[in-house]
Amino acid sequence: MDDLQGKHIVLGLTGGIACYKSAELCRGLVKEGATVQVVMTAAAEQFITAVTMQALSGRTVYTSQWDAREPNNMPHINLSREADAMLIAPCSADFIAKLVHGRADDLLSVMCLARPVDRVPLLVAPAMNREMWAHPATQRNLVQLSADGAQVLGVGSGFQACGETGDGRMLEPAQLLEDLVASFQPKVLKGKRVVVTAGPTFEALDPIRGITNHSSGKMGFAIARAAREAGADVTVVAGPVHLDTPRGVQRIDVKSARQMLDATMGAVPTADVFIATAAVADWRPATEADHKIKKDGSGDCPTIHFTENPDILHTVAQGERAKQGRLFCVGFAAESRDLAANAQAKRERKGIPLLVGNIGPTTFGKDDNEMLLVDASGVQPLARASKLSLARTLVQEIAKRIPA
Ligand code: C5P
Repeated sequence: MDDLQGKHIVLGLTGGIACYKSAELCRGLVKEGATVQVVMTAAAEQFITAVTMQALSGRTVYTSQWDAREPNNMPHINLSREADAMLIAPCSADFIAKLVHGRADDLLSVMCLARPVDRVPLLVAPAMNREMWAHPATQRNLVQLSADGAQVLGVGSGFQACGETGDGRMLEPAQLLEDLVASFQPKVLKGKRVVVTAGPTFEALDPIRGITNHSSGKMGFAIARAAREAGADVTVVAGPVHLDTPRGVQRIDVKSARQMLDATMGAVPTADVFIATAAVADWRPATEADHKIKKDGSGDCPTIHFTENPDILHTVAQGERAKQGRLFCVGFAAESRDLAANAQAKRERKGIPLLVGNIGPTTFGKDDNEMLLVDASGVQPLARASKLSLARTLVQEIAKRIPA
């Protein structure tokens, strides 16, 4: 929870009912370690008080370009230069139009215009009625705003405060936080396509039962998020897990190893990187009963015959693109002992350039992990850290090993 440690964020609020979500957003920014300077337009003050935002940010709120608290009476210069990023949430249709035209008739709009564009990114979270959102004027303005260098974060869809249903809701605070955190990550995989397998597979025995492996999917989802933060276009092929999809990541849900293989083979032909984190069941019941296998009262247990599942990683690594060096394959090894030796042997057996080893029982279901990176040149330990932080390190290590 320190993804924004040391960052100073200007949180701008403009007029919209979504201002109620900005209170939680502000709290989230502070929890992630940021210092937050709230700036509100007059319209925003109609929806939420400066007192609320002051209490949550721990700083007095600025609302006027004539604020005499600044010794030089230039809050637009001082506040915009202190910031590591400016996030306008909610950003009304009117404020977007204002930004596009470079108008500067209140503190927040002057700050947006006065900010050093190459040093202080501007992120915009639109919020408005669905008709306002769909209007050609708004859509035209958003294109121009992006062209001018702002990062437009998109909108949610669903029930709106006005009673209508459609696009235009402000994204949820957690989504905005994820986008802001991502904006600070180096774009080492920009333009790359990454496919990640994650979670366990489930191999049915009958319609009620089956066998599976331990795996929460947390490491795979953290890697998908980290790759996305690094600018990649990411697809995660997920076995049965209970995790939210990281922002901007395409997700394909599967159950069995064979389904995971099919989905993966469909996704890798255009990929640059394949990362197999899934705990794929090595075997599946040779036959799947159409109906529940019943106890017959005799005390005899059924005999289950198994057949081997396809090895997804090995299959992908044997493909033409991987062999030509156009698809970089990364495997995982979850071991219970002799990690370095097992991981080195597994990397060679799988025919892949990079393998990540971890001790399974010490990390299953947890939010942290420690790992070994194994490649042709040897073994590099990565000390215990959050799975997201390890995932970011792994993404950087992958980026170093693939063509720019
Ligand atoms: O052989 P083992 O299961 O230990 O190898 C682990 C690595 O291989 C992981 O990267 C895992 O995702 C991948 N794997 C796979 N398909 C399988 C078995 C493992 O992709 N059937």
